[in-house]
Formats: sequence, structure tokens, C-alpha cells
Amino acid sequence: MKKIDLKIIKNRAQKEIEKTSDLKELNDIFKKYLGKRGELTQILRSLEKLPKQKRIKIGKEANQVKNLLRIKFDQKALELKEKVKRQAEEKEWIDITAPGKKPIIGHLHPLTLVKRKVEEIFQGMGFTVVEGPEIETGWYNFDALNIPKEHPARDIWDTFYLKNNLLLRTHTTPVDVRYMEKNNPPLRIITVGRVFRHEATDASHEVNFYQLDGLMVGKDISVANFKAIIQEFFQRFFEKPIEIRMRPSYFPFTEPSFEVDMTCLNCNGKGCSACQRTGWMEMLGAGMVHPNVFKNSGLNPKNWQGWAFGMGMDRLAMMNYKINDIRLFYSGDLRFLNQF
Ligand code: DAH
Repeated sequence: MKKIDLKIIKNRAQKEIEKTSDLKELNDIFKKYLGKRGELTQILRSLEKLPKQKRIKIGKEANQVKNLLRIKFDQKALELKEKVKRQAEEKEWIDITAPGKKPIIGHLHPLTLVKRKVEEIFQGMGFTVVEGPEIETGWYNFDALNIPKEHPARDIWDTFYLKNNLLLRTHTTPVDVRYMEKNNPPLRIITVGRVFRHEATDASHEVNFYQLDGLMVGKDISVANFKAIIQEFFQRFFEKPIEIRMRPSYFPFTEPSFEVDMTCLNCNGKGCSACQRTGWMEMLGAGMVHPNVFKNSGLNPKNWQGWAFGMGMDRLAMMNYKINDIRLFYSGDLRFLNQF
């Protein structure tokens, strides 16, 4: 064994340690030189066969090489472990400044949007929003509203009858009677709710739809008050100037009764195919509350007068969003709903 061999081994081992960038490989290099059968280990073992002088000299140098290599191995191992740790950290790093993924959230149905807008406008004019049951008695839906049993006007409302003289309300007008029974005038209310009709469906008819009823009662409430409020309502709802006109009509619960038209939104009153060239759109039924309705609600018609109106809310929504088929509101079709 020569001094030169040790130097060669030392340099070779050092180069290999430097070159590797892998912990497992470093381990193999360690075994190759310092393992049980490692080159350096074997040299150290073979020392005993040498004469004493040589043994001391080479033994000293071999141990120096051994210690040096150990230090180099330890340093490299530390370095590589640090590197692995850093790589893992980089992989797991979270960019807290990255824009988040937007969760899909629901939104309000177009009819709910219209309902809320209507209620807000009337509340702004001093009206209270009230509710009533969707299952009604014959009394509130018809009799109290001055539509006795055999009266032909009952046929106007195609009714779903239930057991025990109950029915699905065909309009929201019975809520007016219920409210007047419990509250003394002066009063201003609106009610928006679901109503039911036993009829065939088409683009403008559904078996259930939404109505809006309004009622204002006081000592000297007149048609002029009605006209002003309903015109104001339409202007606020459609957010543009709107004219209205009233035509005589018939409802059992009002006298006189009228129907109200407003400027056609499509042509601004000029006349188009949507309004049969008249420039007007039919919007609602109304009138001065019939004395019999006051009586049936426990109020003396000599002391009070007032007006009432009823309007289809789906129609209002259809005009607002330019929708041509009422059935879309109840279809649950996301292609339709996602547009709102
Ligand atoms: N209830 C009527 C209908 O369903 C609409 C109506 C007309 C309501 C006149 C009223 C009113 O309150 O005064 O066709």
C-alpha cells in the first residue's frame, strides 16, 4: 500500500461526493468507500499485515482520509436534505394573492324581483303589504265580494274546488275583505300572491299565477286618488313617463268599475302590432268598493268609501322583461332563469 493510492482514493471519492445530487447515490458512494467492504475500510483492515513503521505512517494518513471523507459526506448529506425540504416547500406553496374561484350562487326568480319592486313602490306611497291564505272559503273568494252562489259572474273565475266548501283562491281580492274585518279605515294595503284557475294553459294562461290587489279606504277617497296613485306606480315601475286611461267595465265587487290601460311600452303610444295599433295596453281592473263588500267586511258603507284594483303580476313581469310566454316562469328551465 502506497501513499499515492490513498491520495487517488481520496480525490476520487471527493469528486464523486461533489458531483452527486441525490441522497441515495450519496449513500452508495459512502458504502463504496467507508462501508464494511468499502475501499478505505479494506485498506485500514489490511494495515495489520504491514510492518510496524509503515503501519503507523500509512495508518495515520488513512485515518485522516477517512475523517475528511466523513466530514464531506455529512456536509453533502445535509445540503441534499435541505434541498429536498426546499423542493417540498415550493411544491406546497400557496399563492394567497391568486384570484379565488367564484362559487356558483343562486339568485332571485324574476317574479320575486318584480314582487319586491312592486311592494317597495307601494310601501313608498304609504301602503302596507299584507298576505292571505291560498286555500280560501267560498265566502271570502265569492260571497263576501258580492258574488252570490247562483250569480253568473262566478263563471268568470274557473275554480279548483276542494272539500268542505274550500277552494284554491282564484284572485287576491278576498285578502281585502279579510283585512277590512280586522282593521279600521283609513287604510292603504296591497297584497301580492299566488292564485289558481282551472283553465287550459297557453302562452298567456297558467293554472297558477300571481296577482296584485290594492285597496285604499277613507272618508273621502275618490277615483282621482286612484288615478294619481296607479299612474305614479307605473312610472316608478317602468321608470319612464306613462299615461293611463280608464274605460267602464264590470266587477261585482266595485261600482262603478273600470279597466285601466297604459301607454304601450313597445311603441310609446304610437300604435304597433303589440297593442293592435291602439297605442294602449290593457293592464288592470279597478273600481270604487261596492257597499255590499263594505257591509260584508263589517264596515258601514255610509261612513267609508274607497277604491280597489287587481292586476296580473306575471303580465307586469312579462312586459318588464319582454317575455312572450308566461309558462317560462314556472318551467324551472335554467337557460331561462340564468338570464336574471
Ligand atoms: N279580482 C279581479 C280578477 O281577478 C281583479 C280586480 C278587479 C280586483 C277589480 C279588484 C278590483 O280589487 O277592484 O279579475
